[in-house]
Amino acid sequence: MIKALRGMKDIEDPRFLKIFDTARNIAENYGFNYIETPILEETSLFKRSVGESSDIVNKEMYQFIDKGGNDVCLRPEGTAGVVRSFIEHKYDKAQTPKRFWYFGPMFRYERPQKGRLREFHQFGIESFGEPSIYEDINIIAMAADIFDALEIDYTLKINSLGCSECMPKYRNKLIDFLNNHKENLCEDCQRRITQNPIRTLDCKNENCQIILKDAPKITDNLCENCQKDFETLKKGLENLNISYEVDKNLVRGLDYYTKTTFEFVSTEIGAQSAIAGGGRYDRLVEFLGGKSTPGVGFAIGIERIIDLVKTEEKRKGIYIGVMLEDALEFAQKEAKILRKNEKVYFEPKIKSLKAHLKAADKGGYKKAMIVGDEEFKNKTFFEKDL
Ligand code: HAM
Repeated sequence: MIKALRGMKDIEDPRFLKIFDTARNIAENYGFNYIETPILEETSLFKRSVGESSDIVNKEMYQFIDKGGNDVCLRPEGTAGVVRSFIEHKYDKAQTPKRFWYFGPMFRYERPQKGRLREFHQFGIESFGEPSIYEDINIIAMAADIFDALEIDYTLKINSLGCSECMPKYRNKLIDFLNNHKENLCEDCQRRITQNPIRTLDCKNENCQIILKDAPKITDNLCENCQKDFETLKKGLENLNISYEVDKNLVRGLDYYTKTTFEFVSTEIGAQSAIAGGGRYDRLVEFLGGKSTPGVGFAIGIERIIDLVKTEEKRKGIYIGVMLEDALEFAQKEAKILRKNEKVYFEPKIKSLKAHLKAADKGGYKKAMIVGDEEFKNKTFFEKDL
């Protein structure tokens, strides 16, 4: 028997669409527009954006050479493709703000476990051309609105990674600290000192965590501008009644972030607790060859939240069934008419009244309309509310 690949799943759960509809409506209400970019992109796009030293690019890409000899890979995330598209369509030259939402599968060759898949789905948004910190507040509020609408409890963690002025100075301070403790750090962190020192801050190794407690923190080393924005961010969230925690170690697994980073976590889903993540990436457009344009966005992991969404308990639609062959055409025609206004299921099998009612009940319909001998003669239905 051929099975789905490890870490990949078939989806039949109606809550998947409920999440999509909810997120999409809210994003549209915030003035964001739909975009869909290809699932397959040039590998270099992710190397240059997500970063060569990140786990995603280093270990987790579904990368191959296609029949034309091109080095391509299945997208591990959505931001890079949207930025590529933004530049390709010359929106960077126009310098008018653009706001997009997207929904689709992402691929990471990770070790599968609960909440961690190799094919998973994200609902994401990207906002281009708006440097104001109020845009960061706006999109965090949007994510919070989506979780509220889906009745999902969350904790919001925020941090600032600074800008090209304060980050490099901080980075050097951190490197000095790490070099002083080098022999006690795990192998990964020793490697990170030269490759990506910031990533040591969220190392999961217990020993590293103890050492890094005393490491200098970026939020204590922000320049005046970044500090001011970070304060405005906190005040802006309070103004919208969105509670948050400052997490000074929240650096995220993708290299493109500057300034604001944030994550929504849930305590109800186990070790893989991040249900959404995002932040600002003011240098990414330029880095990928476009005209310098600020950007900020987030993505929600659909599979991480699906079990937190309640199933619809409300009965919906009409079940139409017949008890004699001759009534099939009459009933099917009636079903077509009623379907203009609501969900109507037409059962083509001839069954007894009892069997039809049982099937209608099991199918979650709110009403059954059945045609027996008598009803067929009078061109009517036996109707029963379920
Ligand atoms: P990310 O934090 O890598 O950010 O992913 C966003 C969310 O996708 C995570 O919070 C998690 O819920 C879900 N996710 C990630 N990996 C997996 C997995 N292996 N299995 C199931 N769910 C997963 C990004 O992807 C950025 N592009 C977000 C962003 C948009 N930043 C700015 N704009």
